[in-house]
Amino acid sequence: MSITNEAELTGMKKASEAVACTLKEMRNYARPGMTTRQLDEYGAKILSDFGAKSAPYLTYGFPGWTCISVNNEFCHGIPSDNNILKEGDLINIDVSAELDGFWSDNGNSFVLGEDINRHQKLVDASKQILHKAIYNIKGGVRIADIGHLIETEAKKRGYKVIKNLTGHGVGRSLHEEPNEIANYRDKYNLTRFKKNTVVAIETFIATTSTYAETLNDGWTMVGNKGGFMAQHEHTIVVTDGKPIILTEMNEIWN
Ligand code: CO
Ligand code: CO
Repeated sequence: MSITNEAELTGMKKASEAVACTLKEMRNYARPGMTTRQLDEYGAKILSDFGAKSAPYLTYGFPGWTCISVNNEFCHGIPSDNNILKEGDLINIDVSAELDGFWSDNGNSFVLGEDINRHQKLVDASKQILHKAIYNIKGGVRIADIGHLIETEAKKRGYKVIKNLTGHGVGRSLHEEPNEIANYRDKYNLTRFKKNTVVAIETFIATTSTYAETLNDGWTMVGNKGGFMAQHEHTIVVTDGKPIILTEMNEIWN
């Protein structure tokens, strides 16, 4: 969406506060021995207290409030009683929701407890690359140039990017124009970021895979060549200068 007045900005700030606060609280609540269902139910309560509804449920009928993906699962993991978190797991939580007609989206990967499986370097790379990408976005910048930046930064650190997962416009629905903010230089995408538009910028930094494939459960995505992936995502408003980071209170950069 494009922000045209103060009420729209306020609406987006409220929806963003709900998803950012939920993401942060879920990250802090996660413990070894807990199921991903329990973690999702905790997040569901926080979203409900804000009056917010799960965006993937409303949009796609997703069987959960939030997406929780563990280790080789890249994204869209279904909260489950059978998925028990362990020390050193690479966990991705993605929280998107609708509140009073406004939609916001954020997510992050993190290591649970001690980094016994050495995932922190990948997580840090994703976090740093999202920061650099976001602070290079302003009105008039080509979407393909931000994709190029993300891929270049990933390669520098010895990682790959996932080509078929992208950031996207957001605001009046979960996914809207611009539809594909890729993590590589898509030479066919001549679109530029426009001032006042709301976009969800997300990294998909991977160890070995370059495509994500859906499992037979119809939701969970894993890598075409296995390995691990880290994602960090903020919903922002594009300006002439530094973007307004609507989901900043998720503290994914801290
Ligand atoms: Co998103
Ligand atoms: Co998301």
